[in-house]
Amino acid sequence: MSPAAAFDAVSPEARRLWTAGLVASLYALFCLAVALRQVLRGRAARRETQALAAGTGAPVLVVHASQTGFAEELALATAKLLGDAGARVTLKSLAEVSALDLATTGRALFVVSTTGEGDAPDAARRFIRDVMAGAPKLQGLSYGVLALGDSSYARFCAFGRTLDAWLARNGATPLFDRVEADDGDPAALRHWQGHVGVLAGVTDAPDWTRPRYGRWRLADRRRLNPGGPGDAAFHIRLEPLEGADWQAGDILEVGPRNDPVEVAELLVRLGLDGSALVIAEEGATLAEALSWRRLPHDAVFAAAPNQASGPQALVDALPALPHREYSIASLPAAGGVELLVRAMRRADGKLGLGSGWLTAHAADGAEIAARVRTNRSFHAPEDDRPLILIGNGTGLAGLRAHLKARAAAGRHRNWLVFGERTAAHDYFHREEIEAWRAGGVLQRLDLAFSRDQDRKVYVQHRLMEAAEPLRAWVADGAAIYVCGSLEGMSGDVHAVLTAVLGGEVMERLADEGRYRRDVY
Ligand SMILES: Cc1cc2nc3c(=O)[nH]c(=O)nc-3n(C[C@H](O)[C@H](O)[C@H](O)COP(=O)(O)OP(=O)(O)OC[C@H]3O[C@@H](n4cnc5c(N)ncnc54)[C@H](O)[C@@H]3O)c2cc1C
Ligand SMILES: Cc1cc2nc3c(=O)[nH]c(=O)nc-3n(C[C@H](O)[C@H](O)[C@H](O)COP(=O)(O)O)c2cc1C
Repeated sequence: MSPAAAFDAVSPEARRLWTAGLVASLYALFCLAVALRQVLRGRAARRETQALAAGTGAPVLVVHASQTGFAEELALATAKLLGDAGARVTLKSLAEVSALDLATTGRALFVVSTTGEGDAPDAARRFIRDVMAGAPKLQGLSYGVLALGDSSYARFCAFGRTLDAWLARNGATPLFDRVEADDGDPAALRHWQGHVGVLAGVTDAPDWTRPRYGRWRLADRRRLNPGGPGDAAFHIRLEPLEGADWQAGDILEVGPRNDPVEVAELLVRLGLDGSALVIAEEGATLAEALSWRRLPHDAVFAAAPNQASGPQALVDALPALPHREYSIASLPAAGGVELLVRAMRRADGKLGLGSGWLTAHAADGAEIAARVRTNRSFHAPEDDRPLILIGNGTGLAGLRAHLKARAAAGRHRNWLVFGERTAAHDYFHREEIEAWRAGGVLQRLDLAFSRDQDRKVYVQHRLMEAAEPLRAWVADGAAIYVCGSLEGMSGDVHAVLTAVLGGEVMERLADEGRYRRDVY
């Protein structure tokens, strides 16, 4: 009797049992196969780790995709930790990474940020277009991802998550779960450092923390747009008390302090004496310590009233204030950092934390906590190629530092396109710009004052009007630098550049580092 005939001969009940048994066995086999694959993958990852710790493994690729320099800074620290431990490390921007690199590298650690509204940094454009669009076989790759982001944005760590999912989908094996750092959260960075330390076989490396703030003095503060229709914008000059170095394109991270009036109001509300002594890094009294900490809202106290049980308990319960970033508008030769800061107002009418501190709450001559952050993605080209600098509002800051550097280097093929509201009130650094124009440092200047005529005119309109020269400058090798508003400016400028130059040219400019943006 054939197996089929034998099957037909048994009772329906027995047939059902037999079929169920077969399905269960197949399912068990499937589970076993999945588990085995996981075990093998885990073993492979452990072997990678051991080989690296012993300095015997294949080189490690450390990759960064950074918009404003932080991911690159952390990738450098990652590479240094591994290199100091004897590993062979290659550090690359994602812009330089190919599918072949990933398929042949063995191990890669990615440090990537998210910008815009959940977008990848500009440095990732080519990789997304040329590599992520494909499906390379990455079975030989073990990897880790440190995703930088800020949870106040709707799409938190979007690019890090997308990259992680893409690597896994193409067969790469995670060495550990993706680490997500919210606003540079030190605990998350320690977590990543711990993973890298294990890979490197180093467990006693000192914690990475952001460099301590340096001491600066508020040497000048001057409103640049008195009587203007928009929010006040200030020229701020900070002189380093301990020495500092930077170059055009870099960023100043300022450690803000709270409005003293808000601190005093809180103390009254809590019935606490501001002069009470406390133990805190930032000051000896409760009022001083509170000026450096996130002040609690009433809702926080309603939820946890014991926070207010005493000066020290209050200080211990409150986290430190975050830093704020400002594009540096001067060169070290000026003896200080100059900034262009807009006094931002919150919905409740109060000044913003960082801009309020710099433009109003810090007294003239006060000591300011700040540190320079290198932002290589906005550094100038090394050669004498023409530069097209496009910006609006406080975006002039970053462009001004570049123009100063170009003037000092005798590089005069510069074109500035600047936009604000009115020429009468908002033409920041007018004399300096006109002197550059008269002296030939600026070969071309286009200004867009949106409210000086019936029709609104913005920098993107000036660019469209100048389509011919724009094409000529780019054909002559020009690089394009954009600084200022993310909303309303950088997207529209990008659209006009694409319309005038064509999508392919824009892709090429981005790939060659000739299209750079510092927008916020
Ligand atoms: C790379 C980079 C470069 C920059 N360069 C410059 C520059 O050159 N010049 C410049 O002026 N700025 C610059 N900025 C922006 C700057 O870092 C700050 O974001 C800006 O000064 C506002 O911060 P703030 O602390 O004053 O305001 P925040 O206190 O952060 O408030 C800012 C806004 O957020 C909202 N908001 C935040 N918290 C609250 C709250 N509790 N209640 C209600 N609303 C709230 C409000 O709309 C408010 O207007 C740059 C940013 C980046 C990322
Ligand atoms: C203009 C701008 C847009 C941002 N958009 C997002 C976002 O959509 N999602 C997110 O998680 N983080 C966002 N961030 C936060 C950054 O990812 C975070 O600050 C990160 O540390 C920046 O790293 P980088 O200097 O290497 O670019 C944004 C930051 C800026 C300045």
